[in-house]
Amino acid sequence: MSVLDLMRSRYSLRAFANRPVPRDTLLAVLEAARSAPSACNNQPCHFLVIQDLLARAALAACYPRDWLRTAPAVIVCCAEPAKAWRRADGKNHADIDVAIAVDHLTLAAAEAGLGTCWVCAFDAVKARTILQLPDGIEPVALIPIGYPAKDAVPAALHARRKPIEEIVHWERM
Ligand SMILES: Cc1cc2nc3c(=O)[nH]c(=O)nc-3n(C[C@H](O)[C@H](O)[C@H](O)COP(=O)(O)O)c2cc1C
Repeated sequence: MSVLDLMRSRYSLRAFANRPVPRDTLLAVLEAARSAPSACNNQPCHFLVIQDLLARAALAACYPRDWLRTAPAVIVCCAEPAKAWRRADGKNHADIDVAIAVDHLTLAAAEAGLGTCWVCAFDAVKARTILQLPDGIEPVALIPIGYPAKDAVPAALHARRKPIEEIVHWERM
């Protein structure tokens, strides 16, 4: 499959099969995240893999949706802002770096037949406590990951993309 076809076929999966993901497969997907570019190559990213049943149940308290509980693993994608590159005006690029790595990860997952869904609408304060994150480590996104349930389909939102003329601007906006 071409990269573009892979990008088009990926969708946010919110119904997972009751089937664990082998560690080697998770590692291959995480390798894609590791290979992502980052500002000044500072790599201010950390990936916390949660597979334990009780830990996943505890984590679900940060984002109480039944479908999240169906995922056999959740990768908590974190930033370490102190390690990130800052632009001259002070803008910290940690979240951008994490986002690029997560995009790599979700595409590699799709190629491996796995589904993922970005979750940013979680309670970050609760997550910090539940996960006992060290000081200076910020959770940016929860990425539930697993094989799609038999009846899984993309949400209607998936199909909706703005027309290219609306987002691409040649020479001036
Ligand atoms: C930064 C970001 C945050 C998101 N947060 C959530 C979320 O908290 N919960 C959720 O169900 N989906 C979340 N999504 C998934 C989007 O709703 C989804 O990507 C969008 O509707 C397009 O659908 P698709 O991923 O199937 O193409 C998020 C996506 C991104 C990129």
